[in-house]
Amino acid sequence: MYIKKKRTKNKKAVQFHQSYIQQGEIKEVVDTLKSGWITTGPRTKRFEEDFRKYIGCKYAIGLNSCTAGLHLALAALNIGEGDEVITTPITFPATANVIIHQKATPVFVDVKMDTLNIDVSKIEEKITTRTKAIMPVHFAGHPCEMDRIMDMARRHKLSVIEDAAHAIESEYNGKKIGNIGDFTSFSFYATKNITTGEGGMLTTNNDELAEKARMLSLHGISKDAWKRYGKEGYQHWELFYPGFKYNMFDIQAAIGIHQIKKIEGFLKIRKKYVDMYNEAFENIPEIVPLKVKGNIKHAYHLYVIIIKTEELNADRDEIMSEIQNNGVGVGVHFRTLHLQPYFQNKSPIRPPLPKGGRGGFERGMFPVAEYASDRVISLPLYPKMSVLDVKYVIKVVKEVIEGFRK
Ligand SMILES: Cc1ncc(COP(=O)(O)O)c(C=O)c1O
Repeated sequence: MYIKKKRTKNKKAVQFHQSYIQQGEIKEVVDTLKSGWITTGPRTKRFEEDFRKYIGCKYAIGLNSCTAGLHLALAALNIGEGDEVITTPITFPATANVIIHQKATPVFVDVKMDTLNIDVSKIEEKITTRTKAIMPVHFAGHPCEMDRIMDMARRHKLSVIEDAAHAIESEYNGKKIGNIGDFTSFSFYATKNITTGEGGMLTTNNDELAEKARMLSLHGISKDAWKRYGKEGYQHWELFYPGFKYNMFDIQAAIGIHQIKKIEGFLKIRKKYVDMYNEAFENIPEIVPLKVKGNIKHAYHLYVIIIKTEELNADRDEIMSEIQNNGVGVGVHFRTLHLQPYFQNKSPIRPPLPKGGRGGFERGMFPVAEYASDRVISLPLYPKMSVLDVKYVIKVVKEVIEGFRK
Protein backbone atom coordinates (compact mmCIF):
# COMPACT_ATOMS: atom_id res chain seq x y z
CA MET A 1 0.00 0.00 0.00
CA TYR A 2 1.13 3.50 -0.78
CA ILE A 3 2.72 5.41 2.02
CA LYS A 4 1.84 9.09 1.86
CA LYS A 5 4.86 11.33 1.86
CA LYS A 6 4.60 14.68 3.62
CA ARG A 7 4.98 17.66 1.34
CA THR A 8 8.00 19.69 2.32
CA LYS A 9 8.06 23.47 2.16
CA ASN A 10 10.76 23.76 -0.48
CA LYS A 11 9.13 21.20 -2.76
CA LYS A 12 8.31 22.40 -6.26
CA ALA A 13 4.77 23.51 -7.06
CA VAL A 14 3.35 23.41 -10.56
CA GLN A 15 -0.05 25.04 -10.90
CA PHE A 16 -2.69 23.49 -13.16
CA HIS A 17 -2.72 26.61 -15.31
CA GLN A 18 -1.22 30.07 -15.54
CA SER A 19 -2.06 32.63 -18.21
CA TYR A 20 0.80 33.95 -20.33
CA ILE A 21 0.30 37.72 -20.24
CA GLN A 22 3.13 39.98 -21.40
CA GLN A 23 3.85 43.68 -21.74
CA GLY A 24 1.90 43.97 -25.02
CA GLU A 25 -1.39 42.88 -23.42
CA ILE A 26 -0.78 45.06 -20.34
CA LYS A 27 -0.01 48.19 -22.38
CA GLU A 28 -3.02 47.64 -24.66
CA VAL A 29 -5.37 47.31 -21.67
CA VAL A 30 -3.96 50.48 -20.11
CA ASP A 31 -4.26 52.32 -23.46
CA THR A 32 -7.87 51.17 -23.69
CA LEU A 33 -8.62 52.41 -20.19
CA LYS A 34 -7.09 55.78 -21.07
CA SER A 35 -8.83 55.99 -24.45
CA GLY A 36 -12.22 57.04 -23.11
CA TRP A 37 -14.06 54.09 -24.72
CA ILE A 38 -13.89 50.84 -22.77
CA THR A 39 -16.84 48.76 -23.95
CA THR A 40 -17.47 47.23 -27.41
CA GLY A 41 -15.64 49.38 -29.94
CA PRO A 42 -12.57 49.62 -32.18
CA ARG A 43 -10.46 47.04 -30.34
CA THR A 44 -13.26 44.46 -30.38
CA LYS A 45 -13.60 45.07 -34.12
CA ARG A 46 -9.86 44.61 -34.59
CA PHE A 47 -9.74 41.40 -32.56
CA GLU A 48 -12.75 40.03 -34.47
CA GLU A 49 -10.93 40.75 -37.73
CA ASP A 50 -7.63 39.21 -36.53
CA PHE A 51 -9.50 36.10 -35.34
CA ARG A 52 -11.56 35.89 -38.53
CA LYS A 53 -8.36 35.96 -40.60
CA TYR A 54 -6.72 33.31 -38.41
CA ILE A 55 -9.71 30.97 -38.83
CA GLY A 56 -10.16 31.93 -42.50
CA CYS A 57 -13.92 32.27 -42.14
CA LYS A 58 -16.39 34.91 -43.33
CA TYR A 59 -17.72 36.17 -39.98
CA ALA A 60 -16.36 36.24 -36.41
CA ILE A 61 -18.55 37.74 -33.68
CA GLY A 62 -16.82 38.74 -30.43
CA LEU A 63 -18.71 37.64 -27.32
CA ASN A 64 -18.32 37.50 -23.56
CA SER A 65 -18.02 33.67 -23.58
CA CYS A 66 -18.12 30.51 -25.64
CA THR A 67 -21.32 29.63 -23.78
CA ALA A 68 -22.88 32.80 -25.19
CA GLY A 69 -21.85 31.71 -28.69
CA LEU A 70 -23.44 28.29 -28.31
CA HIS A 71 -26.62 29.89 -26.99
CA LEU A 72 -26.76 32.48 -29.78
CA ALA A 73 -26.23 29.77 -32.40
CA LEU A 74 -29.25 27.84 -31.11
CA ALA A 75 -31.34 31.02 -30.93
CA ALA A 76 -30.32 32.17 -34.42
CA LEU A 77 -31.27 28.74 -35.78
CA ASN A 78 -34.70 29.03 -34.08
CA ILE A 79 -34.10 25.92 -31.99
CA GLY A 80 -36.61 25.94 -29.16
CA GLU A 81 -39.39 24.18 -27.29
CA GLY A 82 -39.94 20.55 -28.29
CA ASP A 83 -36.70 20.35 -30.29
CA GLU A 84 -33.86 17.94 -29.60
CA VAL A 85 -30.13 18.58 -29.93
CA ILE A 86 -27.65 15.71 -30.01
CA THR A 87 -24.46 16.18 -28.02
CA THR A 88 -21.93 14.43 -25.78
CA PRO A 89 -22.10 13.92 -22.01
CA ILE A 90 -18.28 14.32 -21.74
CA THR A 91 -18.28 18.09 -21.85
CA PHE A 92 -18.56 21.16 -19.67
CA PRO A 93 -22.16 21.80 -18.49
CA ALA A 94 -22.37 24.90 -20.72
CA THR A 95 -22.85 22.75 -23.84
CA ALA A 96 -26.04 21.16 -22.54
CA ASN A 97 -27.18 24.11 -20.41
CA VAL A 98 -27.76 26.38 -23.40
CA ILE A 99 -29.92 23.73 -25.07
CA ILE A 100 -32.07 23.71 -21.94
CA HIS A 101 -32.10 27.53 -21.81
CA GLN A 102 -33.76 27.39 -25.25
CA LYS A 103 -36.35 24.95 -23.80
CA ALA A 104 -35.03 22.22 -26.09
CA THR A 105 -33.80 18.79 -24.95
CA PRO A 106 -30.18 17.64 -24.99
CA VAL A 107 -29.90 14.07 -26.27
CA PHE A 108 -26.63 12.45 -25.24
CA VAL A 109 -24.60 10.04 -27.36
CA ASP A 110 -21.72 8.08 -25.84
CA VAL A 111 -18.08 8.90 -26.63
CA LYS A 112 -15.18 6.94 -28.14
CA MET A 113 -12.60 5.73 -25.63
CA ASP A 114 -9.58 6.78 -27.73
CA THR A 115 -10.38 10.51 -28.09
CA LEU A 116 -13.41 11.02 -25.78
CA ASN A 117 -15.12 12.66 -28.78
CA ILE A 118 -18.74 11.82 -29.64
CA ASP A 119 -19.11 8.29 -31.10
CA VAL A 120 -20.41 9.18 -34.55
CA SER A 121 -21.55 5.60 -35.22
CA LYS A 122 -24.12 6.03 -32.42
CA ILE A 123 -25.62 9.36 -33.54
CA GLU A 124 -28.03 8.18 -36.21
CA GLU A 125 -30.02 5.91 -33.88
CA LYS A 126 -30.79 8.98 -31.73
CA ILE A 127 -32.19 11.09 -34.57
CA THR A 128 -35.97 11.61 -34.39
CA THR A 129 -38.43 13.96 -36.09
CA ARG A 130 -37.73 16.39 -33.22
CA THR A 131 -33.95 16.47 -33.77
CA LYS A 132 -32.85 19.87 -35.05
CA ALA A 133 -29.09 19.96 -34.53
CA ILE A 134 -25.92 18.11 -33.65
CA MET A 135 -23.54 19.83 -31.24
CA PRO A 136 -20.16 18.06 -31.35
CA VAL A 137 -17.43 19.02 -28.88
CA HIS A 138 -13.82 18.88 -30.10
CA PHE A 139 -12.61 17.42 -26.84
CA ALA A 140 -9.19 18.61 -25.62
CA GLY A 141 -8.59 20.08 -29.10
CA HIS A 142 -8.96 16.86 -31.12
CA PRO A 143 -11.53 17.49 -33.89
CA CYS A 144 -14.55 15.21 -34.10
CA GLU A 145 -15.17 13.21 -37.29
CA MET A 146 -16.71 16.16 -39.11
CA ASP A 147 -17.11 14.52 -42.56
CA ARG A 148 -19.43 11.89 -41.12
CA ILE A 149 -21.24 14.41 -38.91
CA MET A 150 -21.83 16.82 -41.81
CA ASP A 151 -22.98 14.00 -44.07
CA MET A 152 -25.49 12.83 -41.47
CA ALA A 153 -26.64 16.39 -40.85
CA ARG A 154 -27.23 16.96 -44.57
CA ARG A 155 -29.18 13.73 -44.97
CA HIS A 156 -31.43 14.50 -42.00
CA LYS A 157 -31.57 18.30 -42.59
CA LEU A 158 -29.98 19.11 -39.23
CA SER A 159 -27.87 22.10 -38.24
CA VAL A 160 -24.38 21.63 -36.83
CA ILE A 161 -23.10 23.84 -33.99
CA GLU A 162 -19.52 23.04 -33.02
CA ASP A 163 -18.32 23.52 -29.46
CA ALA A 164 -14.73 24.50 -30.18
CA ALA A 165 -13.93 25.82 -26.70
CA HIS A 166 -10.76 23.68 -26.81
CA ALA A 167 -10.08 23.85 -30.52
CA ILE A 168 -8.97 27.29 -31.79
CA GLU A 169 -5.97 25.87 -33.68
CA SER A 170 -7.60 22.60 -34.78
CA GLU A 171 -8.00 21.41 -38.35
CA TYR A 172 -9.93 18.52 -39.81
CA ASN A 173 -8.84 17.12 -43.20
CA GLY A 174 -6.97 20.35 -43.92
CA LYS A 175 -9.95 22.57 -43.04
CA LYS A 176 -9.75 24.86 -40.06
CA ILE A 177 -12.36 24.31 -37.38
CA GLY A 178 -14.67 27.30 -37.62
CA ASN A 179 -15.46 26.71 -41.30
CA ILE A 180 -17.33 23.42 -41.24
CA GLY A 181 -20.62 23.50 -39.29
CA ASP A 182 -23.29 26.23 -39.44
CA PHE A 183 -21.78 27.87 -36.36
CA THR A 184 -18.63 27.30 -34.29
CA SER A 185 -18.08 28.75 -30.84
CA PHE A 186 -14.62 29.33 -29.32
CA SER A 187 -13.57 30.18 -25.76
CA PHE A 188 -11.03 32.65 -24.39
CA TYR A 189 -11.69 31.69 -20.77
CA ALA A 190 -8.66 32.12 -18.46
CA THR A 191 -7.35 28.57 -18.92
CA LYS A 192 -7.88 28.34 -22.68
CA ASN A 193 -5.20 28.27 -25.41
CA ILE A 194 -5.43 32.04 -25.72
CA THR A 195 -7.34 34.15 -23.24
CA THR A 196 -9.18 37.43 -22.76
CA GLY A 197 -9.97 36.56 -19.12
CA GLU A 198 -13.52 35.72 -20.08
CA GLY A 199 -14.54 35.78 -23.72
CA GLY A 200 -15.65 33.90 -26.77
CA MET A 201 -16.02 34.12 -30.54
CA LEU A 202 -18.76 32.75 -32.78
CA THR A 203 -17.87 32.03 -36.40
CA THR A 204 -19.99 31.24 -39.43
CA ASN A 205 -19.78 31.47 -43.21
CA ASN A 206 -23.52 32.11 -43.58
CA ASP A 207 -24.49 35.77 -44.22
CA GLU A 208 -27.99 35.56 -42.83
CA LEU A 209 -27.05 33.59 -39.71
CA ALA A 210 -24.16 35.98 -39.01
CA GLU A 211 -26.45 39.00 -39.14
CA LYS A 212 -28.99 37.35 -36.89
CA ALA A 213 -26.44 36.14 -34.34
CA ARG A 214 -24.75 39.53 -34.18
CA MET A 215 -28.02 41.30 -33.61
CA LEU A 216 -29.07 38.80 -30.94
CA SER A 217 -25.70 39.22 -29.21
CA LEU A 218 -26.58 42.84 -28.34
CA HIS A 219 -30.20 42.88 -27.19
CA GLY A 220 -31.60 42.17 -30.67
CA ILE A 221 -31.21 45.80 -31.65
CA SER A 222 -30.02 47.14 -34.96
CA LYS A 223 -27.00 49.32 -34.07
CA ASP A 224 -24.37 48.93 -31.41
CA ALA A 225 -23.57 51.85 -29.10
CA TRP A 226 -20.16 52.52 -30.58
CA LYS A 227 -21.73 53.19 -33.98
CA ARG A 228 -24.77 54.97 -32.51
CA TYR A 229 -22.58 57.66 -30.95
CA GLY A 230 -20.23 57.79 -33.94
CA LYS A 231 -19.20 60.58 -36.28
CA GLU A 232 -22.15 60.21 -38.65
CA GLY A 233 -24.55 61.77 -36.15
CA TYR A 234 -26.93 60.06 -33.80
CA GLN A 235 -28.70 57.01 -35.17
CA HIS A 236 -31.72 55.41 -33.56
CA TRP A 237 -31.65 51.72 -32.78
CA GLU A 238 -34.56 49.46 -33.59
CA LEU A 239 -35.53 46.33 -31.69
CA PHE A 240 -36.00 43.35 -33.96
CA TYR A 241 -36.07 40.52 -31.43
CA PRO A 242 -35.56 40.24 -27.65
CA GLY A 243 -31.87 39.33 -27.69
CA PHE A 244 -29.09 38.89 -25.15
CA LYS A 245 -26.27 40.92 -23.59
CA TYR A 246 -23.40 38.82 -24.88
CA ASN A 247 -21.07 41.36 -26.51
CA MET A 248 -17.30 41.31 -26.08
CA PHE A 249 -15.87 44.65 -24.88
CA ASP A 250 -12.65 46.48 -25.68
CA ILE A 251 -10.77 45.68 -22.45
CA GLN A 252 -11.15 41.96 -23.27
CA ALA A 253 -10.28 42.52 -26.92
CA ALA A 254 -7.15 44.47 -25.91
CA ILE A 255 -5.79 41.25 -24.40
CA GLY A 256 -7.01 39.11 -27.32
CA ILE A 257 -5.29 41.26 -29.97
CA HIS A 258 -1.92 40.34 -28.48
CA GLN A 259 -2.75 36.76 -27.52
CA ILE A 260 -3.79 35.80 -31.05
CA LYS A 261 -0.37 36.81 -32.42
CA LYS A 262 1.23 34.19 -30.17
CA ILE A 263 -1.22 31.36 -30.71
CA GLU A 264 0.97 29.11 -32.90
CA GLY A 265 4.03 29.73 -30.72
CA PHE A 266 2.05 28.69 -27.63
CA LEU A 267 0.86 25.57 -29.45
CA LYS A 268 4.43 24.60 -30.34
CA ILE A 269 5.43 24.69 -26.68
CA ARG A 270 2.38 22.68 -25.58
CA LYS A 271 3.08 20.09 -28.31
CA LYS A 272 6.64 19.70 -27.03
CA TYR A 273 5.30 19.07 -23.52
CA VAL A 274 2.71 16.60 -24.83
CA ASP A 275 5.54 14.66 -26.52
CA MET A 276 7.47 14.62 -23.24
CA TYR A 277 4.43 13.32 -21.33
CA ASN A 278 3.66 10.68 -23.98
CA GLU A 279 7.21 9.40 -24.00
CA ALA A 280 7.39 9.27 -20.21
CA PHE A 281 4.13 7.37 -19.80
CA GLU A 282 4.70 4.94 -22.69
CA ASN A 283 5.77 2.11 -20.44
CA ILE A 284 3.32 2.69 -17.62
CA PRO A 285 0.46 0.28 -18.31
CA GLU A 286 -1.95 1.96 -15.88
CA ILE A 287 -1.74 5.31 -17.72
CA VAL A 288 -3.57 5.60 -21.04
CA PRO A 289 -3.11 8.92 -22.84
CA LEU A 290 -5.69 9.88 -25.48
CA LYS A 291 -4.94 9.08 -29.14
CA VAL A 292 -4.27 11.47 -32.00
CA LYS A 293 -5.91 10.36 -35.26
CA GLY A 294 -4.62 11.01 -38.79
CA ASN A 295 -5.73 13.93 -41.02
CA ILE A 296 -6.14 16.36 -38.15
CA LYS A 297 -4.32 19.19 -36.48
CA HIS A 298 -4.67 18.93 -32.72
CA ALA A 299 -4.96 22.09 -30.62
CA TYR A 300 -3.46 20.33 -27.57
CA HIS A 301 -5.60 22.27 -25.14
CA LEU A 302 -5.58 19.58 -22.47
CA TYR A 303 -3.33 16.63 -21.68
CA VAL A 304 -5.81 14.04 -20.45
CA ILE A 305 -4.82 10.60 -19.18
CA ILE A 306 -7.15 7.74 -18.32
CA ILE A 307 -5.91 5.94 -15.21
CA LYS A 308 -6.74 2.25 -15.15
CA THR A 309 -7.83 2.41 -11.52
CA GLU A 310 -9.09 -1.21 -11.67
CA GLU A 311 -5.41 -2.19 -11.70
CA LEU A 312 -4.47 0.02 -8.75
CA ASN A 313 -5.20 0.29 -5.03
CA ALA A 314 -6.86 3.69 -5.27
CA ASP A 315 -9.62 5.46 -7.14
CA ARG A 316 -9.09 8.53 -9.34
CA ASP A 317 -9.87 11.03 -6.62
CA GLU A 318 -7.33 9.50 -4.22
CA ILE A 319 -4.71 9.48 -6.97
CA MET A 320 -5.50 13.10 -7.82
CA SER A 321 -5.25 14.17 -4.19
CA GLU A 322 -1.87 12.50 -3.87
CA ILE A 323 -0.58 14.22 -7.02
CA GLN A 324 -1.87 17.53 -5.64
CA ASN A 325 -0.27 16.85 -2.24
CA ASN A 326 3.03 16.74 -4.09
CA GLY A 327 2.52 20.21 -5.49
CA VAL A 328 1.07 19.44 -8.93
CA GLY A 329 -2.25 21.03 -9.89
CA VAL A 330 -4.59 18.74 -11.83
CA GLY A 331 -8.05 18.94 -13.40
CA VAL A 332 -10.88 16.62 -14.40
CA HIS A 333 -12.28 16.94 -17.92
CA PHE A 334 -15.00 15.85 -17.51
CA ARG A 335 -17.28 14.01 -15.11
CA THR A 336 -20.10 12.81 -17.35
CA LEU A 337 -23.10 15.14 -17.42
CA HIS A 338 -25.79 12.46 -17.33
CA LEU A 339 -24.78 11.47 -13.79
CA GLN A 340 -25.00 15.04 -12.48
CA PRO A 341 -27.91 15.69 -10.07
CA TYR A 342 -29.85 17.76 -12.62
CA PHE A 343 -29.92 14.96 -15.17
CA GLN A 344 -30.50 12.34 -12.46
CA ASN A 345 -33.67 14.12 -11.36
CA LYS A 346 -32.00 14.83 -8.02
CA SER A 347 -31.72 18.59 -8.25
CA PRO A 348 -32.53 20.32 -4.95
CA ILE A 349 -33.70 23.44 -6.78
CA ARG A 350 -36.30 22.17 -9.22
CA PRO A 351 -39.03 19.53 -9.22
CA PRO A 352 -38.26 16.26 -11.05
CA LEU A 353 -38.90 16.19 -14.77
CA PRO A 354 -41.22 13.56 -16.24
CA LYS A 355 -39.57 10.29 -17.25
CA GLY A 356 -38.46 10.31 -20.85
CA GLY A 357 -37.68 14.02 -20.51
CA ARG A 358 -34.20 15.24 -19.82
CA GLY A 359 -34.16 13.81 -16.32
CA GLY A 360 -33.98 10.26 -15.11
CA PHE A 361 -30.66 9.21 -16.58
CA GLU A 362 -29.04 6.20 -14.97
CA ARG A 363 -25.60 4.69 -14.70
CA GLY A 364 -25.11 2.18 -17.49
CA MET A 365 -26.59 4.33 -20.25
CA PHE A 366 -23.27 5.61 -21.59
CA PRO A 367 -20.63 3.05 -20.56
CA VAL A 368 -17.60 4.66 -22.19
CA ALA A 369 -18.42 8.10 -20.79
CA GLU A 370 -18.92 6.55 -17.35
CA TYR A 371 -15.63 4.64 -17.49
CA ALA A 372 -13.74 7.77 -18.48
CA SER A 373 -15.67 9.99 -16.07
CA ASP A 374 -14.29 8.00 -13.14
CA ARG A 375 -10.73 7.79 -14.45
CA VAL A 376 -9.65 10.96 -16.29
CA ILE A 377 -7.05 13.34 -14.95
CA SER A 378 -5.77 16.41 -16.81
CA LEU A 379 -2.14 17.34 -16.20
CA PRO A 380 -0.71 20.88 -16.43
CA LEU A 381 -0.15 21.98 -20.05
CA TYR A 382 0.59 25.63 -20.78
CA PRO A 383 3.41 27.69 -22.24
CA LYS A 384 4.24 29.45 -19.00
CA MET A 385 5.41 26.18 -17.44
CA SER A 386 9.02 25.13 -18.01
CA VAL A 387 10.62 21.87 -19.17
CA LEU A 388 11.68 21.37 -15.55
CA ASP A 389 8.04 21.75 -14.47
CA VAL A 390 6.99 19.08 -16.98
CA LYS A 391 9.74 16.76 -15.71
CA TYR A 392 8.55 17.33 -12.16
CA VAL A 393 4.93 16.53 -13.07
CA ILE A 394 6.11 13.32 -14.76
CA LYS A 395 8.16 12.32 -11.72
CA VAL A 396 5.25 12.91 -9.32
CA VAL A 397 2.66 11.11 -11.49
CA LYS A 398 4.98 8.12 -11.98
CA GLU A 399 5.76 7.88 -8.26
CA VAL A 400 2.11 8.14 -7.23
CA ILE A 401 1.00 5.46 -9.73
CA GLU A 402 3.85 3.16 -8.72
CA GLY A 403 2.96 3.71 -5.07
CA PHE A 404 -0.64 2.60 -5.61
CA ARG A 405 0.26 -0.63 -7.45
CA LYS A 406 -1.38 -3.75 -6.03
C1 LIG B 1 -16.15 22.00 -23.84
C2 LIG B 1 -16.50 23.36 -23.32
N1 LIG B 1 -17.54 24.02 -23.84
C3 LIG B 1 -17.88 25.24 -23.42
C4 LIG B 1 -17.17 25.88 -22.43
C5 LIG B 1 -17.60 27.23 -21.97
O1 LIG B 1 -16.67 28.21 -22.28
P1 LIG B 1 -16.84 29.69 -21.69
O2 LIG B 1 -16.35 29.65 -20.28
O3 LIG B 1 -15.98 30.55 -22.57
O4 LIG B 1 -18.27 30.03 -21.79
C6 LIG B 1 -16.07 25.24 -21.86
C7 LIG B 1 -15.32 25.92 -20.80
O5 LIG B 1 -14.55 25.41 -20.07
C8 LIG B 1 -15.72 23.96 -22.32
O6 LIG B 1 -14.67 23.31 -21.78
